[in-house]
Amino acid sequence: MPILLTGASGFLGRHLAQLLQERGLPFIGAYHQHAPPFPVIQLDFTDRAAMLHQLGELHPTAIIHLAAASSPNWCELHPSESRLINTEAPVHLAAYCREAGIPFLFTSTDLVFDGQQAPYEEAWAPSPICTYGRQKYEAEQGVLLAYPEAVIARLPLLYGWGGFLQNWVEQMKQGKPVTAFIDEYRSPAFAGDVATGLLLLLEKYVSGIFHLGGREPLSRFELGQAIARAFGCDERLVLPAHQADVAMPAPRPVDVSLSSEKAYALGYTPRSAETALKDLVDS
Ligand SMILES: NC(=O)c1ccc[n+]([C@@H]2O[C@H](COP(=O)([O-])OP(=O)(O)OC[C@H]3O[C@@H](n4cnc5c(N)ncnc54)[C@H](OP(=O)(O)O)[C@@H]3O)[C@@H](O)[C@H]2O)c1
Repeated sequence: MPILLTGASGFLGRHLAQLLQERGLPFIGAYHQHAPPFPVIQLDFTDRAAMLHQLGELHPTAIIHLAAASSPNWCELHPSESRLINTEAPVHLAAYCREAGIPFLFTSTDLVFDGQQAPYEEAWAPSPICTYGRQKYEAEQGVLLAYPEAVIARLPLLYGWGGFLQNWVEQMKQGKPVTAFIDEYRSPAFAGDVATGLLLLLEKYVSGIFHLGGREPLSRFELGQAIARAFGCDERLVLPAHQADVAMPAPRPVDVSLSSEKAYALGYTPRSAETALKDLVDS
């Protein structure tokens, strides 16, 4: 029987699917609209009855739940639909896993914090300032209530080939500038390192909340400069911007960098941005 990996078609899901394949761990991915090129089922987390029916047929040995409405701006504009995906589905899945007696790993976000008291440890009380952060925080609470043995990984800004990094590199390679906030700090982590960290949490049979941040706090602007350097682009193409310069539906906290000491003690070893980016370029 396989591990069920939800959100397998997403950015982190593709990295984790690759790692599961490399380790020879049997899994089946779940996607919603974009089928990836490995064994998958289609699941819609807005349809609880269908989801539970499919789970009953699949009998997974564990569920790693990455699927989410992951755009804070979209969640701000679509609070009801995104709540079904971000809050209700994880709680239903946690209850299913408890009933089935199998591990459940849920991925949350650094955006459960308000950005005023970084670096954040797991024990700090969340106080989200956007709908996405509130939905994820409510999910954390609901998951742990439904299944106290569940494990929750709060993730930072993720980078790797694809997503914003690929867009920025492609722009800069054409000599076009990119803009990045100098007043938004996270603990960015390479998606492959976080995928390894997620499997570590499962292997160690831990429960509760763990932060899987990157090695260092960086602003998006600093990360952009590191990306430019690693890919041999002109750093001056990364233009600084302030959050206030750009109108966005979802408010953004100023600094949600994470302390990940608890995960480090388990053996989580994310690389620094400089090392991870160099390795990405060399790969
Ligand atoms: N990326 C980051 O920087 C970051 C930071 C902090 C936390 N996280 C968390 O990490 C997890 C993975 O993020 P990601 O960046 O990989 O997300 P992503 O690239 O946006 O992928 C989202 C995934 O969720 C699936 N999905 C969306 N709506 C669904 C629905 N109604 N039913 C079933 N599946 C649905 C998508 O399927 P289709 O594409 O097939 O439609 C996709 O596989 C999420 O829980 C996110 O909140 C990510």
